[in-house]
Amino acid sequence: MATRLLYPTSRPRGKSLRDAVAGQVVLLTGASHGIGKASARKLAAAGATLLLVARSREDLEVVAAELRADGGTVHIYPTDLSDFAAVERLAGDLLAEHGHIDIVINNAGKSIRRSIDKSYDRFHDFTRTMDVNYLGPVRLLLTLLPDMRERRSGHIVNISTWGLRMPPAPRWSAYYASKGAFDCWLRSVAAEIATDDVTTTSIYMPLVHTRMSAPTDFSGVPGLTADEAADLVCHAVTSRPHEITPWWTGPIQAWSDLARGSAHRFMGRAFRKGKA
Ligand SMILES: NC(=O)c1ccc[n+]([C@@H]2O[C@H](COP(=O)([O-])OP(=O)(O)OC[C@H]3O[C@@H](n4cnc5c(N)ncnc54)[C@H](OP(=O)(O)O)[C@@H]3O)[C@@H](O)[C@H]2O)c1
Repeated sequence: MATRLLYPTSRPRGKSLRDAVAGQVVLLTGASHGIGKASARKLAAAGATLLLVARSREDLEVVAAELRADGGTVHIYPTDLSDFAAVERLAGDLLAEHGHIDIVINNAGKSIRRSIDKSYDRFHDFTRTMDVNYLGPVRLLLTLLPDMRERRSGHIVNISTWGLRMPPAPRWSAYYASKGAFDCWLRSVAAEIATDDVTTTSIYMPLVHTRMSAPTDFSGVPGLTADEAADLVCHAVTSRPHEITPWWTGPIQAWSDLARGSAHRFMGRAFRKGKA
């Protein structure tokens, strides 16, 4: 019940999702686990032609076999988003093999939760998160965007994070900086490409119980299942809102702006308890 109140998901009816994606070429990164895998199931069932990206070929093949068994049209492209030359090749191959991409869902991501005092000798935490969460997706879109703009058609969905809409949470500096970098990049680009009818949706995704969030003790914190998170992705694809944000981040951010000291103390106490 608490989860429903905190995270009312918008489940698109089968028909409207089918209207939005049947026959459309949908590129989905991070499709082998969690939110991406759950989204792939719904999009394939609705008739999309799915192009799935993740590093592990084996994991992608498992997902593709399941979707094909249910009648889905699926192609897999094992690629490491932090290998920029491989990402450039991937984008070229996708256009060569499929002609165009209708919808890009930027979902692949790397999360690191580590306090700054444990990070002094770990500069690589910051470069790795920037590579996967920011620079890789930028490299991909730099090749895909010209075609979308020329065709005057396309939609880009970014799986961002609720953390960007909340008072700064301790221990997540590498992750939030990298997610924030791509979030800012896409929102700036969105203002330019809107004139060419290419639209974007930023989903400020709340906590989702997946492989990514499992190492952190979020016990007692209500969150979405991967399937519920995938409903938000389907809502983004169907209705194309500019953003999807949990309703309660607005009041919390307003409180933080008004009483920055107490917001920082609250986050600091949560940090000491290991909740943030
Ligand atoms: N879970 C949450 O609470 C939460 C909250 C807010 C936002 N998000 C965001 O939601 C997205 C999906 O997260 P999730 O919870 O579903 O995580 P997940 O279960 O760990 O899945 C992450 C996916 O990204 C792929 N991936 C990771 N590194 C990659 C790389 N270098 N190149 C290509 N693919 C890569 C993984 O496959 P391989 O390992 O095979 O590459 C996997 O398919 C992420 O962008 C995350 O930041 C999650």
